[in-house]
Amino acid sequence: MVRRPLALVTGASSGIGLELARELAGDGHDLVIAARNVAALEALAAELRGATGAEVTIIATDLLEPAAPALLLAELAERGLVIDVLINNAGFGDGAQFHSADRATVMGMIQVNVAALTELMHGLLGPMVARRSGRILNVASTAAFQPGPNMAVYCATKAYVLSLTEAVAEEVRRHGVTVTALCPGATRTNFMAVADIADNPLFAKGMIPVMTAGAVARLGYQGLKRGQAVVVTGWVNQISALSPRLFPRSVVRKVAGALLARAH
Ligand SMILES: NC(=O)c1ccc[n+]([C@@H]2O[C@H](COP(=O)([O-])OP(=O)(O)OC[C@H]3O[C@@H](n4cnc5c(N)ncnc54)[C@H](OP(=O)(O)O)[C@@H]3O)[C@@H](O)[C@H]2O)c1
Repeated sequence: MVRRPLALVTGASSGIGLELARELAGDGHDLVIAARNVAALEALAAELRGATGAEVTIIATDLLEPAAPALLLAELAERGLVIDVLINNAGFGDGAQFHSADRATVMGMIQVNVAALTELMHGLLGPMVARRSGRILNVASTAAFQPGPNMAVYCATKAYVLSLTEAVAEEVRRHGVTVTALCPGATRTNFMAVADIADNPLFAKGMIPVMTAGAVARLGYQGLKRGQAVVVTGWVNQISALSPRLFPRSVVRKVAGALLARAH
């Protein structure tokens, strides 16, 4: 019997990760889904087993813990789960200004968005290269394309994700492995409530189009299958990703800060 490809999705308990899990299961993958909210993962697993016949393994993990990525990789190895597709999606933001932001939140963003993503990618990419087969999708953001006053650390973590992804995509291109950065703009998920930016007029007053998580996941999955290095979702986001290259940095950071500003 032909083995179904196996995908690991981090942050599959809600939003874009949950929708990416639906895309993958609907397209013939078995899944390992990981996050902290086990009840949400169980509900998703039951849905996907019923709707698609996918085998779904749940791994509870808190990626704020520095040891968590190594434990997750060890658990995969122990259970003999060979990952063909890695979706490095777990992440969060914070709308506080840097000088007054909570220390644990600042360091937590770096732990989850940067360190955990890097360690999981590093742990799974080597075996993919050895097998000359595999795909990785790292969820970055349009926040990656410019510095973001009022969300400084979040934007910096996503700039890291984009830079790492593009560089490694070039390194492994010849080894039969693809690496893709998915760069959504504003997307309707729990992200804005978690980052405490839901009252930003940009999103709250509909000044920019806010995409659904399903639409973002569909575009991301198509880009992953094509092996695209960078996927920016939707034409408004494509223009916003391009525009920092057209203006001086001093202008770009001021405009970004004004767009991300709220009453601090
Ligand atoms: N929504 C947007 O506007 C937007 C735009 C661009 C990029 N993004 C990126 O898209 C990705 C997904 O976010 P989303 O918009 O779908 O938001 P979301 O609905 O809040 O989902 C975030 C996911 O990350 C997981 N996660 C967060 N902290 C974690 C931790 N400590 N350990 C394990 N898992 C953790 C959450 O699971 P648990 O809470 O269950 O652990 C959840 O499944 C993030 O990387 C985000 O930066 C979002």
